[in-house]
Amino acid sequence: MKEQLKKISEDFAVQIAEVNDLTALDALRVAFLGKKGMMTAVMKGMGQVSPEERPVMGQMANEVRGKIEAGLTSKLEELKKAEMEAKLKADTLDVTMPGKVPVKGSFHPLQQVIEEMENVFIGMGYEIADGPEVEYDYYNFEALNLPEGHPARDTQDTFYISDKVLLRTQTSCVQIRVMENKKPPIKIICPGKVYRSDNMDATHSPIFHQLEGLVVDKGVTMGDLKGTLEVYAKAMFGPETKIRLRPHHFPFTEPSAEVDVSCWNCGGEGCRVCKGEGWVEVLGCGMVHPDVLSRCGIDPKEYSGFAFGIGIERTAMARFGVTDLRQFFENDKRFLDQF
Ligand code: DAH
Repeated sequence: MKEQLKKISEDFAVQIAEVNDLTALDALRVAFLGKKGMMTAVMKGMGQVSPEERPVMGQMANEVRGKIEAGLTSKLEELKKAEMEAKLKADTLDVTMPGKVPVKGSFHPLQQVIEEMENVFIGMGYEIADGPEVEYDYYNFEALNLPEGHPARDTQDTFYISDKVLLRTQTSCVQIRVMENKKPPIKIICPGKVYRSDNMDATHSPIFHQLEGLVVDKGVTMGDLKGTLEVYAKAMFGPETKIRLRPHHFPFTEPSAEVDVSCWNCGGEGCRVCKGEGWVEVLGCGMVHPDVLSRCGIDPKEYSGFAFGIGIERTAMARFGVTDLRQFFENDKRFLDQF
């Protein structure tokens, strides 16, 4: 047995020196210390050793096993270290190499205009409200004084999902949702997408954006509306900008007006942008109709309000000198990279 142990010890010393990868190391461990390995085989013979010799043999076997274990462990560390060094060598970083310039994105021009508008109104104390794009007929039409069969519905070619559900054609529905949930004072804007069954051309798109505004409080007047819109127009189109209100009809406001701003291109002289008019239409507005207020549980004898709806594409076209609305939706990077 002594010879056997000695031989195992010597064999191990020779073989471990030759190991240079983890698989071979594991195979060696199994061969020497595994259940069917050499050490186990020797230990099985311990029964035949005389009782006097047994403790000596036992001690020697333990020493050999200890040596083998230590050999395996130090080899494992050696291999791991070598592996790490190889990895570090392969990973060297050349700090003198030119870097890769990361692609820097930018906000879509429509989003830029929305944020500019939001900032103007936030500066006047407005909060931003939100509403669903898939909307009930009730909020989009009925609650805004456009009952079923009302001829003014025809001016907004609508995508219907069912009889009662549609893609909102205007952000004005958010007025109703806000008034149903909040008591005055109310001072909100709501930018968002709206949908109409229009064919795409230079000035129309089946999907476009509006920014709705609503103010309801005690003693709100048309003068407040005009003052607000003046501040907005000067902030967006320049401090020299003038506005004018033209009487118009919207079913949910009374009185109603369309608002023109003096042409930002020619200052009112008449040019290609304003088609010689000196003025460009930018939004619709009016005093919230008393029936709309009371439908939302707000007493029109106590409260009054104004509302407005701004076309965002139109404003962005003015701001950036874009002449074809389709460019906002084509996602052509050559166009978008200019903003
Ligand atoms: N919703 C109208 C449209 O899409 C625009 C509008 C007009 C909104 C008057 C208003 C308003 O809030 O008071 O044509």
